[in-house]
Parts: sequence; structure tokens; C-alpha cells
Amino acid sequence: MTVTIVGAQLGDEGKGGIVDVFGEDADVVVRYQGGDNAGHTVVHDGEEFALSLIPSGIVRGKTGVLGNGCVVNPETLFEELDGLAERGLDPSLKLAARAHVILPYHRVLDGLEELAKGDELSAGTTGRGIGPTYEDKVGRRGVRIGDLLDAALLRTRLEYGLSRARRMVESFDADPDAARFEGAFDLEAVYERLVGLGERMAAAEMVVNCGEYLEARRADGARLMFEGAQGTLLDIDHGSYPYVTSSSPTAGGAAVGSGLGPGVIGEGSIVGIVKAYTSRVGTGPLPTELGHVEDQTPDGGGDRSELGSRLATQLRDAGGEYGTVTGRPRRVGWLDLPMLRHACRANGFTSIVVNHVDTMATFDRIEVGESYLLDGTELDTLPPTTERWARCEATYRTFEGWDREEFGPSMEMDYEGLPANARTYLEYIEAELGVPISAIGVGPKRRETIVRRSPWA
Ligand code: GDP
Ligand code: IMO
Ligand code: MG
Repeated sequence: MTVTIVGAQLGDEGKGGIVDVFGEDADVVVRYQGGDNAGHTVVHDGEEFALSLIPSGIVRGKTGVLGNGCVVNPETLFEELDGLAERGLDPSLKLAARAHVILPYHRVLDGLEELAKGDELSAGTTGRGIGPTYEDKVGRRGVRIGDLLDAALLRTRLEYGLSRARRMVESFDADPDAARFEGAFDLEAVYERLVGLGERMAAAEMVVNCGEYLEARRADGARLMFEGAQGTLLDIDHGSYPYVTSSSPTAGGAAVGSGLGPGVIGEGSIVGIVKAYTSRVGTGPLPTELGHVEDQTPDGGGDRSELGSRLATQLRDAGGEYGTVTGRPRRVGWLDLPMLRHACRANGFTSIVVNHVDTMATFDRIEVGESYLLDGTELDTLPPTTERWARCEATYRTFEGWDREEFGPSMEMDYEGLPANARTYLEYIEAELGVPISAIGVGPKRRETIVRRSPWA
């Protein structure tokens, strides 16, 4: 039995928290795509853990796996592992030999490319080198985790990859040997460092043939959970290209990125994580956006009226929608149903979880983008080009809000305990999407998730 957790929107839907809740019954938690561009929050025993790369299930002592579809920065990997050990955890982690390695020069290229693209084309990446690493993978010139255990092979691969990366930097009119790049293009330094990191991986016996390892665990009766990072609208194929990440967060990615067949993923549960509103980090369209964020909201995007800006601040403050590292406000807006219909189809969700229902308690009236208008035609899902999506105007349905007081500690933590107006909102979403809601988030803590039906059942 497997459970696959996928972001239904644009990331930060609360996937980490739900992996934690449903992960109680899992034995192994697998990340199948992305790298340390993610930020998944788990609140455990009153302590908050923010994980970038390591699967969230590790907090509960489950075995974590980084699948072949991931890109792994070995430096941040060990930093994160050491940080968890310092906090008293004993993480058990396996790494796919086929996963690709993020090298120092990938981060440099990520930054240079974003600058070169300028405002209109840049995605506002996390700068972690994700795009350039996947580019090298597809270009058949990448370095894989397994290569770190074979010094001679590593050197051959690195020599070619690095020489090409140097030419790329020069094409951006930059000097690869400049001090600001901190030796990212110095073959000897990078090689020595990677050999050392490979030795550490070998000593810890972390590196596995991922598909084979997972199949063996499955044969032993282990329950596997797949933890998607990012979200459907950030998917390289099904997202708002080019304002996307470079991997496949959608459910199909769980098969390709782990080495198990699509049937294995498909016969399990596929759970879409939905935030009761919409948020976005970075550039690209967002038809239901309230207010705007400088340098991220496209020209003409967002409701920039006084009311729109006030509602945006209210939503942002209530939902804590500020960057964890930068403190920068995130882009926020009302729930967007055409976006969710697209996500339901692209992923085949067997159920959804709606998080942040408490956050919506701050409003007297709540709007939901029910459909779009594009050139006078009503659309109930996304057009396939981002340019057309950017021109869509949302048409709204209004709901009565619910009282924050009703979310106090005295609230009955079951579905019937939710305020009637909240249930009306949730049942509307369920009916529009034709997918049942398996859990509802009413706060960041583990016990603040109302589970209606376990995805393992
Ligand atoms: P992820 O990237 O999808 O794992 O989500 P993040 O961890 O980046 O962002 C979700 C944020 O919302 C975290 O700070 C969570 O602790 C918090 N959160 C998750 N679910 C809820 C909820 O139902 N209510 C509230 N108020 N916060 C939540
Ligand atoms: P989690 O897993 C929200 C966004 C970046 C940028 C685009 C491409 O926490 O939900 P990248 O560095 O991946 O090349 O950036 O994707 N992005 C995320 N936004 N949550 C995330 O992860 C994200 N990971 C990447 O802001 O717009
Ligand atoms: Mg996040």
C-alpha cells in the first residue's frame, strides 16, 4: 500500500505537516523529485522542524529515501542531517545511486541565468541550482550519487561537466575564476570535496538502488509514503511554464522518481494538498491574487485596489505568508478552482486535504475563484499556455466567513465541530472538484488536523 502526497497549487500548501500526520502509519517516506528548494514544516512535540531536502517522515523516526528523481546537494544534505542529530533525532536516510548531484557551479549558473533572463522571463528561483542540475541530467552530462563512490569515474564526469559549465559562465560575460564564485569551477577543489562526501556516504551505507530497495521493503509488507515537493502549478510539464521548477511534482513523478511502476502508485492513495487560499513565491500569473508584491507580481496582475491590498495583508498576516529566510511577503489570493480542477485531473487525486481553514476565519466574507473569463468565454480550468492563463479573469462566488473564536481550544476536533459556514465552504469545494476531503487543517500542529478518513484505509 502506498500513499502519495502532492501539492495541488504552487507549493507551501502544508505538505510536510500532512506527511507527518498520515506518516504515522508509514514505514518509509520517499521524496521523488526536487531538492533543497523545498521547505517543509513539521511541528513535533511543540518544536518546529523546517526540512529542505530530507523527507519529513524522518522526524517521526521513519526511514527516509531520496529517490532517483531528486537532485541532491551533498553539502546541504549533511548539514541538514547533522542539524537533526544535534536536535536529538537519529535520522535513517537512504540515497538513490541514480539521483543527480547539485554541484557548486549549478548554484552559480542558476543565479547568472536568472539575472540574464531579466524580469519578464525569470522564475524567481530559490537559487539552489535546481534548474542547471536537471539540465545537466537531461543533457547526459550530470554527476550522479553513485559516481561519488567511484573516484576515477567521478573525475571523468566532473572534468567534462565543469569545462562546459566554465564556458557557460563565460557566455554570461563572467569569469569562472572570480573570487565571488568561491572555487565553484576549480576542478581539484570540487573533486577533492566530492570524494570526501562520497566516502562519508559509503561509510554510512546510505546509497541504494532505489527501486530495488523500495520493492524489497514493499515485499516485506512495509508501507510506503511518497512526499511530493513544490506543487502541480510548478511542475515542468503541467505548471505555469516557464515560471516553474525543473522537476515533476505531479503524481506520475512518484513512479519515475522512485523506480516503482505507475501501477504501484496508482493502486494506492494519491492525496492532493490544498491550501484554503492561494499563495505563490516567485513570478508568474495568479488570477485570484490580492494586492501585489513588488518584483514578483507581473505587470497588471493582482487586485491593487485599496480593498485588495488590505485583504492581502490580512490574509498574509493570518496565514504567516512571509518567507522563512527572507521575511519577504508572499503573493496571496483567494482559492482558485480552475487551478484545482487542473490539479485533480493531472494527478488523479483520490482525496484532498484542505489546510489553513483557521486562517480563513479572519474574514467576514470569503471569495472563491469559481471559473475564468478569457476573451468573453467562460473556462472552468486552465488554458494550456501561460500567456493565456495570465489573461484570465476570475469570476467569484462569495461565502459567509466564520468566527475565529470558534477555533479555540474548546473546539470539537471532528468535522461536525467545525462552524457551519466552514463546512459549507468545504462541501462546495468537494462538490466542485468531485473529490472527497480526507482531512482538514485548522492549525499547524499535529493535533490540529481533523482526519475524516485515513488514506491507508
Ligand atoms: P509545504 O512546503 O507544503 O510543506 O508547506 P510549508 O511548511 O512551506 O508551509 C506551510 C506553513 O503553514 C507552515 O508554517 C505550517 O506549519 C503551516 N500550516 C500547515 N497547515 C496549517 C493549517 O491548517 N493552519 C495554519 N494556521 N497553519 C498551517
Ligand atoms: P515546497 O516543497 C514554493 C518556486 C520558486 C520559483 C520556482 C523555481 O516547500 O512547497 P527553483 O529553485 O525550484 O528552480 O524555483 O519554484 N519554488 C517553490 N515555491 N514552495 C516550494 O517548495 C518551492 N520550490 C520552488 O520560488 O518560483
Ligand atoms: Mg514549503
